[in-house]
Amino acid sequence: EITLRTLAAARGLRIGSAVSDSALEKDSGYQDKLKYEFNSVTPENAMKWANLEATRGKPTWEKADAIVDFAVRNGQTVRGHTLVWHRSLPTWITDGTLSTAELRDALKQHIQGTMKRYAGRVSVWDVVNEAFNEDGTLRPSIWLERLGSGYIADAFRWAHEADPSAKLYINDFDAEWATPKRDALYKLVRDLRAQGVPIDGVGFQTHTLIKDPIPAALPLTQLQDTLKLFAGLGVDVAVTELDVRVKLPADADKVAAQAETYRRAAAACFGVSRCVSLTVWGLTDKYSWVDSGVPGWGAADLLDRNLQKKPAYTQVQAVL
Ligand code: XIL
Repeated sequence: EITLRTLAAARGLRIGSAVSDSALEKDSGYQDKLKYEFNSVTPENAMKWANLEATRGKPTWEKADAIVDFAVRNGQTVRGHTLVWHRSLPTWITDGTLSTAELRDALKQHIQGTMKRYAGRVSVWDVVNEAFNEDGTLRPSIWLERLGSGYIADAFRWAHEADPSAKLYINDFDAEWATPKRDALYKLVRDLRAQGVPIDGVGFQTHTLIKDPIPAALPLTQLQDTLKLFAGLGVDVAVTELDVRVKLPADADKVAAQAETYRRAAAACFGVSRCVSLTVWGLTDKYSWVDSGVPGWGAADLLDRNLQKKPAYTQVQAVL
């Protein structure tokens, strides 16, 4: 049986999955699929700051360690996710007790402490996640408000200092096609590169949905153009959180439209030489974040609730 991993490896490509720490711990079927089908993994939640350091100075590395250990044992790349985000922050960061200088120092320590712990085992990092609003202005996070817009460049410099060999990414959604956010992200990456800020790549989350009724024109028509556009800046690009949710209940037409959308995403990435990896945000519908994250929607992944291959799997396999 030829897996996605085998096909990707033969072409020098990375195909990845987000990893649920709880599923990995308890579900041997999940472990098997993860190791045979993928050569890259991204901790879905385990490396978010609130999960690593809920109490200041008392890090809890166990869940992240378990994923990294699994990946190393199975020869998989780890995409670290994510160091600077407006969400999943510990309350000791958000409760307003820290001065600006303390906040800045805490962010630097968080980036560098996390990266140093995993240096040599986590080779790619989403350093900054979801920095933009839909209109292309910077998102009003605690980081923007307290540290100013320079927090982005600072984060990349601190990250590079901590692990000079890691590939450093900025990651976002709704930049996969011609949006104001895409324009703003493009300008930011261009400017950062011009200033010598160490940024190596741009991640496109690619959370996608099949509308009901199913539209004649399916999504992701512009993804490959977008990947090429950014690659033109001299950075790597990646599809980092691909999933294609459908309005529940799923039916054969929706599942077919979903499969075609997955095929497009895979063809878009694998057809661009600087698109170095494609990661799906969830291995199986059994544990998908969509069920709780987007009520009424689901069935977003390549494998069903019994870990069986869906038409989407077959389409991705065909592209590889
Ligand atoms: C999501 C996880 O999948 C959920 O389990 C969690 O409750 C919230 O975060 N963009 C990102 C990811 O960059 O980190 C998010 O992951 C999904 C949206």
